[in-house]
Amino acid sequence: MALLIKNGEIITADSRYKADIYVEGETITRIGQSLEAPPGTEVIDASGQYVFPGFIDPHVHIYLPFMATFAKDTHETGSKAALMGGTTTYIEMCAPSRHEDTLEGYQLWKGKAEGNSYCDYTFHMAVTRFDDKTAAQLREIVKDGINSFKIFLSYKGFFGVDDGEMYQTLRLAKELGVIVTAHCENAELVGQLQQKLLSEGKTGPEWHEPSRPESVEAEGTARFATFLENTGATGYVVHLSCKPALDAAMDAKARGVPLFIESVIPHFLLDKTYAERGGVEAMKYIMSPPLRDKRNQKALWDALAMGFIDTVGTDHCPFDTAQKLLGKDAFTAIPNGIPAIEDRVNLLYTYGVSRGNLDIHRFVDAASTKSAKLFGLFPRKGTIAVGSDADLVIYDPSYRGKISAATQSVNNDYNGFEGFEIDGKPRVVTVRGKVAVRDGQFVGEKGRGKLLRREPMYF
Ligand code: URP
Ligand code: ZN
Ligand code: ZN
Ligand code: ZN
Repeated sequence: MALLIKNGEIITADSRYKADIYVEGETITRIGQSLEAPPGTEVIDASGQYVFPGFIDPHVHIYLPFMATFAKDTHETGSKAALMGGTTTYIEMCAPSRHEDTLEGYQLWKGKAEGNSYCDYTFHMAVTRFDDKTAAQLREIVKDGINSFKIFLSYKGFFGVDDGEMYQTLRLAKELGVIVTAHCENAELVGQLQQKLLSEGKTGPEWHEPSRPESVEAEGTARFATFLENTGATGYVVHLSCKPALDAAMDAKARGVPLFIESVIPHFLLDKTYAERGGVEAMKYIMSPPLRDKRNQKALWDALAMGFIDTVGTDHCPFDTAQKLLGKDAFTAIPNGIPAIEDRVNLLYTYGVSRGNLDIHRFVDAASTKSAKLFGLFPRKGTIAVGSDADLVIYDPSYRGKISAATQSVNNDYNGFEGFEIDGKPRVVTVRGKVAVRDGQFVGEKGRGKLLRREPMYF
């Protein structure tokens, strides 16, 4: 099967030009002017459109037992929604709890994805406890092509690790050439503040943010950086949400700590007033770290524009209205998560590039290229070049529309970005040379998505 994409404007993290792209099988084999194709080639006219490298979401939850329930997605539903929004690869958190066997967890997560995903995927392997047996298993998992770990400083007793386990995990990661991603909130403080608020009768969703204030995230971020500094490991803060945490991360970067920063799309566009609306409407906006005071958003946009925030993910984690209502008597029981896998690229393009807050190359970098580089997928993914996988997004910048749960592919009964205007949309999306979205309609092939092997990086 060959594919020829004609007359598009190719935009990568560092280049912009008009050219045709020729794809043979799964790979880009030629880029040039006025390319001719043999008979039988599928030709797509991309006149007036941008052609971006397939976008990469570095932080999603698909299969996730969490807070007395399960996140709603399967790889079938999650990858379809991803592709409709231009994301052609995602990195899922493989997160067995600390009461489960790590290797069995890894096999379980792998099994959930195998044969079910429309797009390519890989995992960050969560380290939720540390002992000799787990360390030996982690070595095997790295050999299987997983080159990133995940630790949670929060969620004590479930996913969370203590400082000793964090130290041991970072030492192993340093030895193996594995980057460690971390959810940075002080677990002890969150637990104490939750109990205090509940004992004062403060049980509604509006108390979620005060139970995990900005300073609690800043402390977790600073502590993670201190542990990186003293182990030589390379780290990546996930879903950084506020200026104090950003300042802590920037302090660490300034002293030379190898630390990268991810923020997620909800924190750029939604603020804590959404979680103060009362009732289930508020519960839909509960995630951790929580939606913050709006003044943080400018700090995030500025840091993103300058490249201090490296990547933008989603932390996609869908729970429907009925699941959110598990927390009707206490905010501590509201399942945490706001789904965004389908909307991340369109929102970042619209409120970043189209509205003048973000250079278009930085947009491609933050939503695709940088994740490919940090997690061992570049240049196979994250760019448009001869030899790269033909994961391509033909994007229509003239589209105007609004986000709505009524038209979404995401497997959920609401959309946290309901009514948000969108200034662009993927028209065609390919997965290794095969069209998965055509004229905005889903035509993907279940099981085409593959687990991507990633090698150690030794930063
Ligand atoms: O609220 C969130 N973030 N839900 C998913 C779990 C996590 O902490 O990433
Ligand atoms: Zn991540
Ligand atoms: Zn997290
Ligand atoms: Zn997450």
